[in-house]
Amino acid sequence: MARLVPNSTTDLIAATAAAEAQLDGEDDGFRERLAEVLPILHPLFAQLYGEREDGREALAAVVAAAARSWRARPTDLKQLDARRTQHPDWFLSEKMLGAVCYVDRFAGDLAGLRDQIPYFQELGLTYLHLMPLFASPEGNNDGGYAVSSYREVHPRLGTMAELALLAADLRKAGISLVVDFIFNHTSNEHEWARKAVAGEPGYEDFYLIFPDRTMPDLYEQTVREIFPDDHPGAFVQLPDGRWIWATFYHFQWDLNYANPAVFQAMAEEMLFLANQGVEVLRMDAVAFIWKRLGTACESLPEAHLLLRAFNQVLRLGAPSVLFKSEAIVHPDEVIAYISPEECQLSYNPLQMALGWEALATRDGRLLQKALDERHALPAGTSWVNYVRSHDDIGWTFADEDAAALGIDGYPHRRFLNDFYVGRFDGTFSRGVPFQENPKTGDARVAGTTASLAGVEAGDAGGEDRVILAHSLALSTGGVPLLYLGDEVGQLNDYGYRDDPAHADDSRWVHRPRRDEKAYASRHDLSTVAGRLHSRLTQLIETRRRTPEFAGNALAPFHTPHASVVGYQRIGSARTILVLANVGDSEVLIEPITLSGFAPAATDIVSGAEVRLSSGLMLPAHGFVWLGVEPV
Ligand code: GLC
Ligand code: GLC
Repeated sequence: MARLVPNSTTDLIAATAAAEAQLDGEDDGFRERLAEVLPILHPLFAQLYGEREDGREALAAVVAAAARSWRARPTDLKQLDARRTQHPDWFLSEKMLGAVCYVDRFAGDLAGLRDQIPYFQELGLTYLHLMPLFASPEGNNDGGYAVSSYREVHPRLGTMAELALLAADLRKAGISLVVDFIFNHTSNEHEWARKAVAGEPGYEDFYLIFPDRTMPDLYEQTVREIFPDDHPGAFVQLPDGRWIWATFYHFQWDLNYANPAVFQAMAEEMLFLANQGVEVLRMDAVAFIWKRLGTACESLPEAHLLLRAFNQVLRLGAPSVLFKSEAIVHPDEVIAYISPEECQLSYNPLQMALGWEALATRDGRLLQKALDERHALPAGTSWVNYVRSHDDIGWTFADEDAAALGIDGYPHRRFLNDFYVGRFDGTFSRGVPFQENPKTGDARVAGTTASLAGVEAGDAGGEDRVILAHSLALSTGGVPLLYLGDEVGQLNDYGYRDDPAHADDSRWVHRPRRDEKAYASRHDLSTVAGRLHSRLTQLIETRRRTPEFAGNALAPFHTPHASVVGYQRIGSARTILVLANVGDSEVLIEPITLSGFAPAATDIVSGAEVRLSSGLMLPAHGFVWLGVEPV
């Protein structure tokens, strides 16, 4: 056993030998990649695990696992690796369109999901995120986010072999499969968890277990409560009286990444999933993966080192696979995870939340500020822009941004919660509160897009708001992500209250089962489903044929109207000017505001000619995507 030493060639030689033993003469480019990766992975490991007596062995074991996995990698995936390495910016295309669904709720099981591929093609999907589909405890399992085995599909949904076939079929249809990599925690039924609790050698340090409340009490002075409805603080008590770290539900136990055996074990699960044909891993709860006493235990520097290290392991064993960050935190922290070396993709929770903020306040300034100042990303990375997800909406805007506009963050969040859960007079929204914390006054909001936007309440602007919200996600750049069901206006599903496994988790209100009737009427314009579907698919088609929508870069465009949000997507031949009115009354954009463009413009959605010299009327909750040329 030996410690890792920075710049030590002995460490590198040991790691290379470990890889060689697995490669057994085969290569396919592995050695070349190893030569590039080791000088990056070695210092990362030294920073993370430099104190360990077995650091050198830990690094060698991880590299060996990557070599083993590479040898087992199917040929078609190696071909994909080669193509993607040639075109690393593939996911920045204007043709990208994502969607997300639960396998069971949308299609029963994996076989049923496969039957939906024609519908996915009809929509134009290129990216499909299937919610967690692994073995997990019966009853409440946090929608599958409590994983009991990363190598087994939940028997109710199918088998791992079926998942691999589905991945291949999707790929043939031009759709990349995305699944969660739930690497912060496992379920309490995972084999590692059982062994850890039993004190089995090699597993004692897989989780964070303490004999009494001394350490938990100290940690809890500084960590947030994430699911206060389930248990206070971040620890739960084991039957034998000890305490274990559980950030989320009591049955989701946080892994101890200070132990390199945990890194190695999860790296092997990651490589296994990659070899099933998963093309993007959604990195669940990234902010929480490293803990240090006296801190919030969120977004610590080591969280970034870990992501970099996992990424290098992928470069070795499955070079085409991308990471998507799920960090629903302060915007400064969200952005810190996004880089070609960490997560190439990231949810854009700020734009998501501020879209709703703007609709509630009828004031687009906070959203405009975010687009102006917080939208830019490093080259080779992309936002995933969405209107809502399977999770609650939290108001994660920066207080300092709000303050710059004279808005006080705390009461503003209170207002937004009240507005969206229907406690504010005149609200159009029918949301439901999630995890209200009486100690802090914090709460989040649950609800489907249509219910939050006013369709459920029968508000006259409801349908327009659904389309307006999606028009933002489709035009600000990156990968737009639809929650399947929203394109046919599915409403809240209050049935979760009758299901004991779901009753205490109001997020189920916005995870309805596929509504056959709504889908069947999607071409019938006399229905809500038909109108929303037709307007939305028209936007999707427009986006697909508009190269200016590729990538993330946007330039601000300001009007004198607080309710109007503006930006330009600048292309080589022309610019797409987007103007969106979040207000309830129409707004005239004066000719002078538009005078920097040639008078003849085109509405690229309808194809109509627009004369900018007479100004532009934006209807209530209306927007335009205009093809313009500078004068
Ligand atoms: C993520 C998931 C959420 C889950 C949590 C714990 O935030 O999106 O649904 O509850 O992680 O895994
Ligand atoms: C994320 C967020 C938290 C959110 C949770 C699940 O980890 O940080 O705010 O509520 O997932 O809903």
